[in-house]
Amino acid sequence: MYFKWKDEYATGIETIDAQHKQLLEIGARIFILAELDDGYDHYDEIMEVLGELKDYTQYHFGYEEQLMETNGYERYENQKFQHFFVIKKIEKFQSSDIDDRQKETIIGLAEFISDWIINHILKEDMQYREFFISRGIK
Ligand SMILES: [Fe+2]
Ligand SMILES: [Fe+2]
Repeated sequence: MYFKWKDEYATGIETIDAQHKQLLEIGARIFILAELDDGYDHYDEIMEVLGELKDYTQYHFGYEEQLMETNGYERYENQKFQHFFVIKKIEKFQSSDIDDRQKETIIGLAEFISDWIINHILKEDMQYREFFISRGIK
């Protein structure tokens, strides 16, 4: 399962780890929808989860960016760029005509989200760990 929390994802900053867990939890729900093979129309559920994903992702990015900006974190711009890219990608999924291609779309989305979240946490977010901790941010 792609979306199971692992200790290696922990930054040690409690609020951020809780937010990353929540993102993975939304991802897990997308994955469950992607795997359903019951012949029913899941369009409404897919759009609902997508909306939730976008809102929560925006909230989390805003939280991180605000911390970075107020503390003068040096990779703030890199983070902002990567965050911007993922929001655009989610918006693209929201505006694509997924009604006829539900299964492919949702599987594509689930893959993208799992890859992206885990990669970004491990490669980018992990780099602010020492910086934030040294400034007493928990
Ligand atoms: Fe980030
Ligand atoms: Fe993050």
